[in-house]
Amino acid sequence: MNPDLNRRDFLGAAGAAALAGTVVSTVAHAATATTGSQPVKLIGVACSPRRGMTTAKAVQTALDAARAADPRIATELIDLGGLNIAGWSPSPPADDFTAILPKLQDPAVAGLIIGSPAYYRGLSSLCKAFIERCGPLREPKMLLADKPVGVIALGGFRNGGHELVIEQIQVAMLCFGMVPVGGRAPGFQGGTVLSTNDDISGDETGLATARNIGVRVAELAVRLAVKPSTIG
Ligand SMILES: Cc1cc2nc3c(=O)[nH]c(=O)nc-3n(C[C@H](O)[C@H](O)[C@H](O)COP(=O)(O)O)c2cc1C
Repeated sequence: MNPDLNRRDFLGAAGAAALAGTVVSTVAHAATATTGSQPVKLIGVACSPRRGMTTAKAVQTALDAARAADPRIATELIDLGGLNIAGWSPSPPADDFTAILPKLQDPAVAGLIIGSPAYYRGLSSLCKAFIERCGPLREPKMLLADKPVGVIALGGFRNGGHELVIEQIQVAMLCFGMVPVGGRAPGFQGGTVLSTNDDISGDETGLATARNIGVRVAELAVRLAVKPSTIG
């Protein structure tokens, strides 16, 4: 955490970045300063089959807030929309996951922000398939161990099962040794964003929870990056 940045400035900067931020890309944003060390990389994964839609926008909002929080943070959005990713099988096909896996195996990755739409109060099948294929991040080495993960759920209804989606993803990522973050006021568990006619710009409360997840993941990733995990 930048010692010159107090918490209020920090959240204000994060909010401003999110407001200014536009969306949708698999673009990587480099850290603007690395304070003499490696950048701390956060990857956002948007798990809607609809590329560039509300899930991708919410995850990008969180990544923008994370970058604004600390100059050591670099981010990349992986939008799974339109990609072909099968769930686990004994002989997984050579599908679009093949290109994604090396990005996640990069030792610079210090945390994840995963977003999924609520589909009948559960995570999307694309999100489940993505997580099932992440086995190589668990064995032979726990590559994600002790790294923070924040989760954002999108839904078309205010009480559409967002927190169930968050829990499902958090629980799955526990299997990878990741540390789920959440709980910064006004949110309770993760990012919960309401989509109204495919538009999230009016849900300022929900967008605040997405920004808060970005900030929480950034804070913990920077702190833990100082002393990396030794879990093998
Ligand atoms: C098959 C299906 C099931 C859905 N189920 C829910 C639901 O249980 N709760 C909810 O709030 N929204 C539900 N929705 C709405 C989506 O979660 C919402 O539109 C979300 O913003 C879509 O994400 P995207 O814009 O990134 O594609 C459902 C949409 C579809 C297509």
